[in-house]
Amino acid sequence: MGLLTGKTAIVTGAARGIGKAIALKFAAEGANIAFTDLVIDENGQNTEKEIAALGVKVKGYASNAANFEDTEKVVNQIKDDFGSVDILVNNAGITKDGLMMRMSEAQWDAVIAVNLKSAFMMRQKSGSIINMASVVGVHGNAGQCNYSASKAGMIGLAKSIAQELGSRGIRANAIAPGFIITDMTAKLSDEVKAEWAKKIPLRRGGTPEDVADVATFLASDMSSYVSGQVIQVDGGMNM
Ligand code: NAI
Repeated sequence: MGLLTGKTAIVTGAARGIGKAIALKFAAEGANIAFTDLVIDENGQNTEKEIAALGVKVKGYASNAANFEDTEKVVNQIKDDFGSVDILVNNAGITKDGLMMRMSEAQWDAVIAVNLKSAFMMRQKSGSIINMASVVGVHGNAGQCNYSASKAGMIGLAKSIAQELGSRGIRANAIAPGFIITDMTAKLSDEVKAEWAKKIPLRRGGTPEDVADVATFLASDMSSYVSGQVIQVDGGMNM
């Protein structure tokens, strides 16, 4: 029996990257998977197939996590399709970097909407909520004011949910990844990547699977007395 056998998980923004690795790891531990992404194209369909090959129920839903109506609709659809939901991973996220002095309102709004406003709210009797934050949400980062603020918000949100819903058996935690090798970081310049590398004691960028392992711990009963925490998955980085 897997760590998550019999449970159902929603992972947002999981057609690729960290979300996909989490969905695959959860499925390998026996969870049924409902995942969302902006579109479920060939890439999303391949993700669906990879998860299905692990022998669990899976469905990918096209849904914009930043849109409240879309989110309400997809949550209801997932409940109809899967029944109750035990694990929610608010993973969808974007960057639109720039110095605060030069940042447009549109750049600010887009990042706050996708990264923070997107965090799903659901009525459940028990369960584990995992918000994908970032080390820059803990420490800040020049050139990423909008992103840092959104990720700090995800931490505050997890801590507050942990206090509001703990009595109902709902746990909420945040993961703060450091430099993880995905499409999101691939677009950074070699110079920026080299700067990050210097700050990492373990001397490598993280993999999506490094983050997925911690998400699996937080989703499972292995962490049944852990709530309101932020776990940094960053190779020991001291920003
Ligand atoms: P990625 O860009 O590779 O994947 C993000 C996924 O989210 C994509 O499939 C994208 O289509 C989807 N997405 C974007 N906007 C969406 C929306 N409005 N609704 C639904 N889906 C949407 O990014 P990656 O690296 O996998 O990041 C996943 C999460 O981890 C993000 O929240 C990111 O901020 C966070 N993170 C990533 C780090 C890294 O170094 N890669 C470091 C710290 C945090």
